[in-house]
Amino acid sequence: MLLERSTWGEVEAYLARSKGVIVPIGSMEQHGPNGLIGTDALCAEAIARQVGEEADVLIGPTLTLGVAQFNLAFPGTVTIRAETLMAVVKDYVRSLARAGFERFYFLNGHGGNIAACNAAFQDLYADASFERDRVNRAGLRCRLRSWWEYDAANKLRYELYSDSEGLHATPSEVAITQAAFPGAIKSATMSKPGALPSDYYRNFGGDKHYDADHHRRWFPDGRIGSDPSLASPEAGRRLIAAAVPEALADYRAFLAED
Ligand code: NI
Repeated sequence: MLLERSTWGEVEAYLARSKGVIVPIGSMEQHGPNGLIGTDALCAEAIARQVGEEADVLIGPTLTLGVAQFNLAFPGTVTIRAETLMAVVKDYVRSLARAGFERFYFLNGHGGNIAACNAAFQDLYADASFERDRVNRAGLRCRLRSWWEYDAANKLRYELYSDSEGLHATPSEVAITQAAFPGAIKSATMSKPGALPSDYYRNFGGDKHYDADHHRRWFPDGRIGSDPSLASPEAGRRLIAAAVPEALADYRAFLAED
């Protein structure tokens, strides 16, 4: 069930059955020579919407803009600041909480969103903890889960691509968009990725990158240690199929939490 294609009456009826919603969240940033600008949002959305097809779960409007300043030296990237994302997440949650929603499961496709979203969740809980509006917000819970945290999907992406998976513009995420949008598959020639410094993940994992000019200097075609020429729609279908049952089980466990 998609929020944007529902009536308010249908949402009211849903609230009598469930207080939970899944919110896809991604980014609008370059994804290497053959990856779509919207890759992170499209991956999260494809998995979330499939969950919504298979179970009675409301899927909220996708948050398509994320924290991606480091990719601004590549044309087409649209970023918002971390503080802007925090404000958007809080207003999104408060809007639906006003109607009676209590559990917000953000299904994420972009590492740069993780810190800002978790900080926004802490601010929302602080409103209850400081006893302002305690009645309305005491039951509010938020969780962010990135699709590659699902064990089966994560295992599959390394089975498929091992060292060529890399950290950004990965063949897995490009494959998911190819499965979801076969009419938008792009091809490009690219070299095999060079090895990343051994401390790269420790220093920059989770998109803790420096500014945009530095980032483009280090990664001139936008990839980080990946070979997305290996992507295929078939692999994308397998990755979606691996992620969906785990996303649903994880969401249901979240709903059932005290
Ligand atoms: Ni991505």
